[in-house]
Amino acid sequence: MGAKKILILGVNGFIGHHLTNKILDETDWLVYGMDLAEDRLGRALHNPRFQFLEGDIAINREWIEYHVKKCDVVMPLVAIATPKLYVEDPIGVYHLDFEMNLNVVKQCVKYHKRVVFPSTSEVYGACTDPEFSEDESFLTVGPIQKERWIYSCCKQLLDRVIYAYGTRGHLEFTLFRPFNWVGPRLDSLDTAKEGSSRVVTQFIAELLMQRPITLVDGGHQKRCFTYVDDGIDALIRILANKDEVCKNEIINIGNPANECSVRELAHLLKGIFTEHPDHRADKAYSEIIEKPAEEYYGKGYQDIYTRKPSIEKARRLLGWEPKVNLEESMRRTLYSFLEENKI
Ligand code: UGA
Repeated sequence: MGAKKILILGVNGFIGHHLTNKILDETDWLVYGMDLAEDRLGRALHNPRFQFLEGDIAINREWIEYHVKKCDVVMPLVAIATPKLYVEDPIGVYHLDFEMNLNVVKQCVKYHKRVVFPSTSEVYGACTDPEFSEDESFLTVGPIQKERWIYSCCKQLLDRVIYAYGTRGHLEFTLFRPFNWVGPRLDSLDTAKEGSSRVVTQFIAELLMQRPITLVDGGHQKRCFTYVDDGIDALIRILANKDEVCKNEIINIGNPANECSVRELAHLLKGIFTEHPDHRADKAYSEIIEKPAEEYYGKGYQDIYTRKPSIEKARRLLGWEPKVNLEESMRRTLYSFLEENKI
């Protein structure tokens, strides 16, 4: 058997580009990737074990089919993953996150290929369990008018379709659920300028532009932020799949020890920013203000107040443990953001 061949759709995305560089650095695997752009891929582009096609998954269907056939494992990572867009463009989310990915999953069924699919912490929705369990927790979402939940529902239905194919012997799968991964190149400064980034990039961008940081509904909501290197370490183990430990399993990948409220996050990031050598002497810093959710996101939004993973399964199956604490995760993310966006 030759080196493992991995197809990554959305290879230039946050998870895709970190994963690709780690695979190329630390394994002998081959990566075939497609994305709309290549700006985050860096050194991977010069590696002979990486082949890249710049293109849209909705258009290049023959390339995808050919490469599904050719590869051993398929990772369909293309998705809209920012809450602001769930409420602004729910049909776009459905089309890309659900329909396009379903096509890829069906190809995996057709050619008997293993799929490693990104589910999401969002499928647990407003679950009230103190820690979310892959195989026990209820998946709780709000009314249809609250369009934020379309992302959670799209992902949940795909999880269920993949699971059904898998348990009937038509597909080998692993579903992984990232919990608020953060790190370099999470979102671009452009999306943050428009106010449509995920919270960590949004706050960093506001600090850089000296605009107010907004706490939605007072910022009491909590998340467990997971540093991307820890997440990628788990993904490498899932892809390696030693003794088929991940076969047809669903696995949370998060860092329960890094739980903090959005309010605490704002103060933490502001502290790290004001101590940064380039900004220590700034004349003014962003103030921290509050806004009701409806004003910040619009009517279709509903928040999730707590979201903490159980990672017992990841520990047991993968022998994995997240290592980077909250402060260090934020420091590394903020420093890299400043480094790459020097004005
Ligand atoms: C995220 C996104 O849906 C996906 O990236 C992903 O699937 C999943 O969760 C994950 O990463 O695990 P969420 O955590 O709600 O969802 O996304 P953020 O936009 O990062 O918001 C986090 C919290 O910060 C929310 O409570 C939001 O209301 C708050 N927030 C956001 C603010 O208080 N101020 C802001 O400027 C932005």
